Amino acid sequence: MSQNIYTMGKELDLKAEQEKTLATPKLSANAILRMMFLSMDILYGKGRTLPKVLVLEILARYPYWAWENGAYKKLSRLYCGTRAVPEKSVRDALRHIDMGREAQDNEQWHMLLWADMCQQKNIRLGWFKHFLLPRKMTFVYYYLTRIMYRLNPRWSFKMNAAFESHAEHEYMRFAQEHPEFDDEPVESIWFDEFYPRQKTLGDLIRRVGLDERDHMNHSLAEVERLCE
Ligand SMILES: [Fe+2]
Ligand SMILES: [Fe+2]
Repeated sequence: MSQNIYTMGKELDLKAEQEKTLATPKLSANAILRMMFLSMDILYGKGRTLPKVLVLEILARYPYWAWENGAYKKLSRLYCGTRAVPEKSVRDALRHIDMGREAQDNEQWHMLLWADMCQQKNIRLGWFKHFLLPRKMTFVYYYLTRIMYRLNPRWSFKMNAAFESHAEHEYMRFAQEHPEFDDEPVESIWFDEFYPRQKTLGDLIRRVGLDERDHMNHSLAEVERLCE
């Protein structure tokens, strides 16, 4: 897969990229993801809101952590055995650790940004929706990904690509539904140190949506690599 499709670190017309997303169909989600998205609509409302994308980002970190953890354990299994270690298995595991670490951090910055925005706007979800529910959902999502990764890594990369495709579309629709966000200057304690500064809330939402597109493409590229 071409490196040109990735958007991070590039100066792009964010509104044109938003149009591209909205003109592209979402990847189809499996039953696990459909259940998760339905639960989120029931629990947090069908509309797109800052607290809802915050919960999405809390969840989004976990597949990457599951890959990092799963690949680490795979290396331990390989090197604790007495047989020769196949180079391809090692390279796959090292790549999954790298992918996991990089994207996990990026999702973490997304989470910090939305938490900061919620705080600035004095939006509070309460203990049940802000603490208990995301914790339970992340537990389930992490272990499902972890099991899939153990049984067949391609399953977990495919599932993650569909999750990211959903996230990309949610962000671009969120920006589309709120043209007033384009007149709202945005500031965050996390800009510059962890995340590229954006001028408006609308652009921040689009930029995060593009990160999700990159995550999706990385996962799809990994599915292809594992099929080689
Ligand atoms: Fe994200
Ligand atoms: Fe993502």
